[in-house]
Amino acid sequence: MLPISTLLVATALLSSQAAAFEYNTFDGPGFPSCHRVSRVHDASSIEQLTSIVQSAIAQSSSSSSMLRVRAAGKGHMWYDTQCSDEPTVLVRTEGLARIGGFDLAAGADRGSVWVEAGVTFFQLAEYLHERGASVGYTLTNWNISFGGSVAMGAHRSSLREESMVAAGVLAMDIVDGMGEVRRVVRDEGDDDWLAASTSLGLLGIIVRMKLLIYPDSKVYAEQATLDEKDVLDGDIYGMIAPYATANLWWWPYKRKFHHRYYDTVPASSTAQEGFQNTFSVTAFEAFAARTLLDSGKYLATSNMLAEEIFFGQWSKPNFREKTTNEEIEEWPVYGWNHDVLIGGLYPDQKAEWEYGLAAHTLELAFPVTMANQMLKRVRQLFDDELRRGFVMTSTYRSGINIKFGKPYFDFLGQVTYNTTDGADWSQGAIMFDFPSYRPTVGDHKRFNEQFYHKVANTLIDEFPCRPHWTKNTREVFTRSVKNMDPNYLARFKAVRERFDPQGIYRNVIGEILGLY
Ligand SMILES: Cc1cc2nc3c(=O)[nH]c(=O)nc-3n(C[C@H](O)[C@H](O)[C@H](O)COP(=O)(O)OP(=O)(O)OC[C@H]3O[C@@H](n4cnc5c(N)ncnc54)[C@H](O)[C@@H]3O)c2cc1C
Ligand SMILES: *[C@@H]1O[C@H](CO)[C@@H](O)[C@H](O)[C@H]1NC(C)=O
Ligand SMILES: *[C@@H]1O[C@H](CO)[C@@H](O)[C@H](O)[C@H]1NC(C)=O
Repeated sequence: MLPISTLLVATALLSSQAAAFEYNTFDGPGFPSCHRVSRVHDASSIEQLTSIVQSAIAQSSSSSSMLRVRAAGKGHMWYDTQCSDEPTVLVRTEGLARIGGFDLAAGADRGSVWVEAGVTFFQLAEYLHERGASVGYTLTNWNISFGGSVAMGAHRSSLREESMVAAGVLAMDIVDGMGEVRRVVRDEGDDDWLAASTSLGLLGIIVRMKLLIYPDSKVYAEQATLDEKDVLDGDIYGMIAPYATANLWWWPYKRKFHHRYYDTVPASSTAQEGFQNTFSVTAFEAFAARTLLDSGKYLATSNMLAEEIFFGQWSKPNFREKTTNEEIEEWPVYGWNHDVLIGGLYPDQKAEWEYGLAAHTLELAFPVTMANQMLKRVRQLFDDELRRGFVMTSTYRSGINIKFGKPYFDFLGQVTYNTTDGADWSQGAIMFDFPSYRPTVGDHKRFNEQFYHKVANTLIDEFPCRPHWTKNTREVFTRSVKNMDPNYLARFKAVRERFDPQGIYRNVIGEILGLY
């Protein structure tokens, strides 16, 4: 035990340091993405962002302790892995929202556009739709910035089409660790590009990108319900590869899957304008779900009922007709590219997290050649719990999300290939994305909490799997390092040392990966 007087002195010292506060993820207070933020700046131009970075560098070199800098997009990340645990200045990119240089010639099958880092998918979709264009399938959700998506290797789900957001980037400007703007241009033979393509923000702040665009298209969304055994023993590759984008949602208690797939249709073939909603609910629905799922912290029967209800709801189209706001009742649904693939919030609803519904998650990518083996191993883990008397379920409104990725070459991406693990990543990847409700009551631990850790540890130890960079805890990253390619890590580190020799953009993921 330390004497009280020592503790008092220590407390006084701590409080005399510059006040540092927590910065939160999209889930709000109690969900920190950074623990020690000393200041948050809003950049409204690239010049202003550059000068913010330069003054942080100057302040660092004139004091004894290093001041770190990180970009902040829309906060759509899950855990406390944005920053290092040292005092950090955040620079919000929301004000970097210019779009320009639109270039899509009449009749051309592709073109390009420049966006600043804070532009969201939603903003760009609106801009492009007015001009008869779209970004194709290199997408994530609507209210997420391009800077944040590209930095963290975000992706949609496709084996046929490029679906890493970075795969749609032709060039990018990065403010490096000296506060200088550097342009990096797509070139698979250039280590700078291969590092910048999935950089985790460790090379600097991405401020501007040149993106591939395509003529706008209408697409259909179709969904089938499958028995679990037909997927576990089925040709999973064959269920996904034929489509522009496709995924599976797993209902482990029901032993069912939903199989969702999308592809283009001629624009003149349909007048429907379907608009998808994945995350918004009414206040009443939110209250009911929260009450049921909170009781599921203690009672398996509540979770079983919740999965039953969610499954039933998810079997119906989660779409409305955009022009009338009417519910769409039947599959398939048709509409414009971004509205159908992503959509957004219904005008009379709010995102579920705005009602205090929060989730944990875990997302790992495996070679798609191991898809059946991986899903069967997870089934076994569910069954082991059943034998111990614990009925485990999905406690998320869209079940367990199983996504896919076409191979895309860079150093830190989830779907890269030619790696030292000897696994065959050349056919693409299957992602296991397991969100679960975080109870608002008691100690906030989930029903049979240890199960979730067992699933993560078993998969990481038994498979050559790689983590999604914003959907995993520090523990998952630490355990996953052994599955990363040491040569790619070394080549990334060499680029990092040139872009940011002082490590001002350092964060905990970079530390865990041994990049400092
Ligand atoms: C509802 C929801 C749905 C999602 N859907 C998908 C999905 O379909 N597929 C998928 O892969 N991911 C998905 N994600 C995860 C999301 O794409 C990533 O977490 C993404 O990084 C969030 O971007 P952001 O703009 O919110 O950035 P933030 O959350 O603010 O930042 C994330 C990280 O990126 C860094 N960063 C942000 N901007 C820049 C920049 N300009 N330059 C350098 N570094 C930067 C930050 O420092 C931080 O480390 C989803 C998340 C949510 C909440
Ligand atoms: C987007 O996210 C921000 C928080 O980062 C929130 O304030 C805003 O309301 C969201 N907009 C939409 C359309 O969801
Ligand atoms: C991957 O390896 C194959 C076979 O060794 C080689 O032909 C190919 O060029 C490599 N691709 C990349 C991007 O390294």
